Amino acid sequence: MKIISAKDYQALSRAAANIISAQVILKPSCVLGLATGSSPVGTYQQLIEWYKKGDLDFSQVRTVNLDEYVGLDKDHDQSYAYFMRTNLFDHINVDPANTNIPDGMAPDEAEECARYDKVIRDLGGIDLQLLGLGVNGHIGFNEPADAFSTGTHQVTLTESTRDANKRFFASIDEVPTHARTMGTREILQARRVLMVASGANKAQAIKDAFFGPVTTQVPASILQYHPDFTLVADEAALSLL
Ligand code: F6R
Repeated sequence: MKIISAKDYQALSRAAANIISAQVILKPSCVLGLATGSSPVGTYQQLIEWYKKGDLDFSQVRTVNLDEYVGLDKDHDQSYAYFMRTNLFDHINVDPANTNIPDGMAPDEAEECARYDKVIRDLGGIDLQLLGLGVNGHIGFNEPADAFSTGTHQVTLTESTRDANKRFFASIDEVPTHARTMGTREILQARRVLMVASGANKAQAIKDAFFGPVTTQVPASILQYHPDFTLVADEAALSLL
């Protein structure tokens, strides 16, 4: 495990974008696992800036996103499909046909989850997975549970997660109660994992996940076993270490 300490959100976004850029330059047809939420927004903005300068080419890149809310159409402004278009895909030359996100509207839950696992397998796995960190230690929407999850699956979001995400919705009642997420196993199988974490509200989760025991109650703690895991965090997020 490698920890990169950045002084603030801008510096951490730049450091994370550098690592993703290196991946894209070294393997132009790489498979990037992508995340939504506020943590990676600055990283995406930096990648867009470098793309616009002509320093990056995403034309062969393939992407798989971690998760999607159940019941939100891809054009709903809080869906993760919409988030990815507006925060990244619409501003770079990635081929939309090469981007993948679980379908939160597909009626057959089991069929959709199996389809998504096949997408990941058919791509040959993930070269670099970008992650945020939940305040309760979740990765993707793999919430604290009695076991680490295997395969894409549907989860009931915890109240802590719905509460953390209500800032994007008019009220907590509008926050979906379920999501479909890549499994912890698939995240762990990515060849490289890069996590971005910012702000004092992530400090306890970082301490628990990376300086405590590996436990299903803190899903991110399993990353301690990953052979190529990098955490890029700002000083506030690292303040309890
Ligand atoms: C998003 C995701 C989540 C977030 C996490 C942190 O695709 O899978 O695990 O990364 O909830 O969210 P932010 O970055 O908004 O604090």
